[in-house]
Amino acid sequence: EAAEKGGYPHFMLKEINEQPAAIMATVSPRVEDGLPVLRIPELTDEVLRGIGRVHLVGCGTAMHAGMVGKSAIEALARVPAEVDIASEFRYRDPILEKNDLVIIISQSGETSDTLAALKLAKSRGVPVLAIVNVVGSSIARAADYVMYTYAGPEIAVASTKAYMVQMCVLYLFALRLAYACGRLSEAETRRFTAQLLRAPEVIKPRLADCEQIKYLASRYVNTQSCFFIGRGFDYALSLEGSLKLKEISYVHSDAYAAGELKHGTISLITDGVPVIALATQKQVYEKTISNAKETRSRGARVLLFTTKDAVVPEGVADAVIRLDEYEDILMPLQLIVPLQLFAYYMAVLRGCDVDKPRNLAKSVTVE
Ligand code: AGP
Repeated sequence: EAAEKGGYPHFMLKEINEQPAAIMATVSPRVEDGLPVLRIPELTDEVLRGIGRVHLVGCGTAMHAGMVGKSAIEALARVPAEVDIASEFRYRDPILEKNDLVIIISQSGETSDTLAALKLAKSRGVPVLAIVNVVGSSIARAADYVMYTYAGPEIAVASTKAYMVQMCVLYLFALRLAYACGRLSEAETRRFTAQLLRAPEVIKPRLADCEQIKYLASRYVNTQSCFFIGRGFDYALSLEGSLKLKEISYVHSDAYAAGELKHGTISLITDGVPVIALATQKQVYEKTISNAKETRSRGARVLLFTTKDAVVPEGVADAVIRLDEYEDILMPLQLIVPLQLFAYYMAVLRGCDVDKPRNLAKSVTVE
């Protein structure tokens, strides 16, 4: 097993570090002459133009990738998109139209609720595109179309590199859709695609920041409970960062859209409560900063993740983690890395079984 870990103490840390290679393997074969290609003969630009609504369905981390996909599809292509938890979708009699597209997201391709959601969509005559990491898995076989992620085997129960490449495939899809629908010009599509291809380089310095993140984790290691806040893409990342943390370190954690704090949660903010504030999106930066400030004035210890050039006013944060400037829409690819590392080091420092957290299976094949 030590050999399989390639010198890393845990599979999770190995897999976090494999992310640049996983992105490269997943994205580069799908870029042709600077433009994104889906490599699904049936999904021509004309067919893409006819899509009325996209439904993104998955469980846990895969569903969180779907949230990023929804925001990217709506922002770039202006096509309505909905995200569903597979176990909700399958029992809520979803409204599906013939010209909709259901995108099923799964690392293992074996999650039972996700497979059931796929079958439901097919039984309604709606085309299903699966984004799957395991070749020949049940979901890959049952879907109409498949876009594989090339993360390689993911052993740690906590999903890291698979999530990263699920987001990449969703960005590729959103870019092609936006191009096909004429929402992005050819030049803009090329520019975004080039930025996506740069992702491995963009995240490498974040992997190198691990000592800083480890140090921060050591300052939060005895915490009982913590909160993640963010808006837009940062809200989707709050959910994923929070899930990672509770899954492997057993620290209770909740994630909120930053604007929702005042509607209840702020009553839980007392002296010393950690608040992890994600503020990478320029359009809502001031808003999130003001929410972080509100928590700090109630005693929270604020750990702020923002970009290199962002101006952070005095008294907002106890510690600031800086990310490099990057396309706002693609920022999740960069931001997730320190959040994964934070959860990882919290779990290690708390003496948890990082790769096999209690009560959890790598793939949930029973209801
Ligand atoms: C994430 O770290 C999880 N272990 C879990 O949420 C996982 O993403 C979920 O069970 C879905 O699995 P799948 O991608 O294999 O369908």
